[in-house]
Amino acid sequence: MAVLRLRALVLAVCLVCFYAPASSASSGDFPRCLSASIPSELIFTQRSPSFASVLASSIRNPRLSTPGTVRPLCIVTPTNASHAQAAVLCGRRHGIRIRVRNGGHDYEGLSYRSVQPEAFAVVDLANLRSVRVNRAKATAWVDSGATVGELYHAVAKASGERLAFPAGLCPTIGVGGHFTGGGFGLLQRKYGIAVGHVIDAVLVDAHGSLLDKKAMGRDSFGIVLSWRVRLVPVPPKVTAFIVPVSVDDGAVDVLTTWQEVGPALLDDLFIRVIVQNGVATFQSQYLGTCDALLAVMRGRFPELRMNRSYCREMSWAETTPMDTSNKATSDYVRQPIGRGVWAEIFNWLARPNPGLMILGPYGGAISAVPEAATPFPHRGGVLYNIQWIRDLYAFMAPYVSKNPREAYFNYRDLDLGRNVVVGNVSSYEAGKVWGEKYFKGNYKRLALAKGKIDPDDYFRNEQSIPPLVPRS
Ligand SMILES: Cc1cc2nc3c(=O)[nH]c(=O)nc-3n(C[C@H](O)[C@H](O)[C@H](O)COP(=O)(O)OP(=O)(O)OC[C@H]3O[C@@H](n4cnc5c(N)ncnc54)[C@H](O)[C@@H]3O)c2cc1C
Ligand SMILES: *[C@@H]1O[C@H](CO)[C@@H](O)[C@H](O)[C@H]1NC(C)=O
Ligand SMILES: *[C@@H]1O[C@H](CO)[C@@H](O)[C@H](O)[C@H]1NC(C)=O
Ligand SMILES: *[C@@H]1O[C@H](CO)[C@@H](O)[C@H](O)[C@H]1NC(C)=O
Repeated sequence: MAVLRLRALVLAVCLVCFYAPASSASSGDFPRCLSASIPSELIFTQRSPSFASVLASSIRNPRLSTPGTVRPLCIVTPTNASHAQAAVLCGRRHGIRIRVRNGGHDYEGLSYRSVQPEAFAVVDLANLRSVRVNRAKATAWVDSGATVGELYHAVAKASGERLAFPAGLCPTIGVGGHFTGGGFGLLQRKYGIAVGHVIDAVLVDAHGSLLDKKAMGRDSFGIVLSWRVRLVPVPPKVTAFIVPVSVDDGAVDVLTTWQEVGPALLDDLFIRVIVQNGVATFQSQYLGTCDALLAVMRGRFPELRMNRSYCREMSWAETTPMDTSNKATSDYVRQPIGRGVWAEIFNWLARPNPGLMILGPYGGAISAVPEAATPFPHRGGVLYNIQWIRDLYAFMAPYVSKNPREAYFNYRDLDLGRNVVVGNVSSYEAGKVWGEKYFKGNYKRLALAKGKIDPDDYFRNEQSIPPLVPRS
């Protein structure tokens, strides 16, 4: 989808570098330039008394704010589009790159820190978070700085709890970062991922212009300020259950079975698994009543021994899931993993300092979209996604997808690789090492688009799409 592509490039927007062309003006003039168009109470320099608290406001992971972390020169918190435009214009003029922050959930903190020393500014969209729902059209405009929880709540309220939006499980995730990288959650099997439901967007491009999706075209990029999304219908009551199964009660067998059942169930039923401390916990949401769910479970997944006492009927908006904030990485599984391997994994996760594994079933609407239709390539043939702690990464290699070993872009992991600057642009060849894991065959297409729009690679971060310019 255009907007996801847009993001891949937006991402690219961020990192300045030692190689940035020297600007004619000194970077000391950057704050002065900002002050000319942005009210001073919306600009926080390192000397502002509230700089530290504004910076910390949406940092999820203390690992990413230890002393020595490369911090921004300043943080701009726009209250309207013109402030974001001014930040881009001043940044270009004074050779300062910009990183955009919404919910701050990036696993590597790239929205507010740099991995190597550089001068950069953060545009934090936290003040731009309104949600405007059009119930009759089943659409909404949501500003990037809103959280998905705020979006869900506003949609439920405006629609008498009959409309919803298919995106992530954690209510504090920011709309801006989340939509652009894909965005999956409880409704993914029924309706696919967030980016598939984006119908328009408003953004500030690299020249500081304000564009909508029509004007920006398919391959443009910038700071997305606002998104128009298509909402989806949900029944008045959905049913949730949580069934923990310990190793002693047969977790290994039930999990082995789930691998093939979970992705093949009817689309109304989502069952994910969290493996931790010798227990596999099956968490589910079903778009219907407990009675109907029990019939499905008896027929399709009797091994779980789910019964009525586990059912919790509620409105969709009441389903509130969990929050994790460790460094994690991701994998995709295309062939069921054998029982013996699962037994080993359980042993592994039962060690002191235990890890955690979250398995999310694919199939349904998420698999019905062709791989090349959006940059998000993990489609048909994927059984499930795994999110986990790194210890198991090497051990799992034989059992997960290969060539490339696929990974989810929104679970960003710099251990998969970083850009290498050759001459003065990120190298397309070197970027393949991480780019093909996140985007598979779409990586090249994205790089060609980047080569057209930003051949100088002015907008860059540690994992941004490098420009590929075909030799004529
Ligand atoms: C606790 C937790 C739970 C999660 N649960 C899920 C889940 O259920 N499903 C799922 O799919 N993912 C999940 N994720 C991953 C999440 O989708 C990504 O981390 C996402 O990028 C977060 O968006 P953000 O706005 O909060 O992050 P930020 O850190 O603010 O931004 C992330 C990236 O997007 C860029 N960006 C942000 N806003 C914009 C914008 N307006 N325009 C252009 N670029 C922008 C930033 O520069 C940065 O590179 C989870 C992450 C955490 C920490
Ligand atoms: C944005 O805010 C500034 C004040 O900083 C104001 O002058 C300007 O008119 C506003 N622009 C829009 C489009 O609302
Ligand atoms: C449901 O299953 C649990 C655990 O197996 C059991 O303790 C309980 O008695 C069962 N309840 C019903 C109503 O069957
Ligand atoms: C850097 O990029 C510019 C174009 O922006 C180009 O003219 C110049 O030759 C490049 N320099 C090097 C060292 O590659």
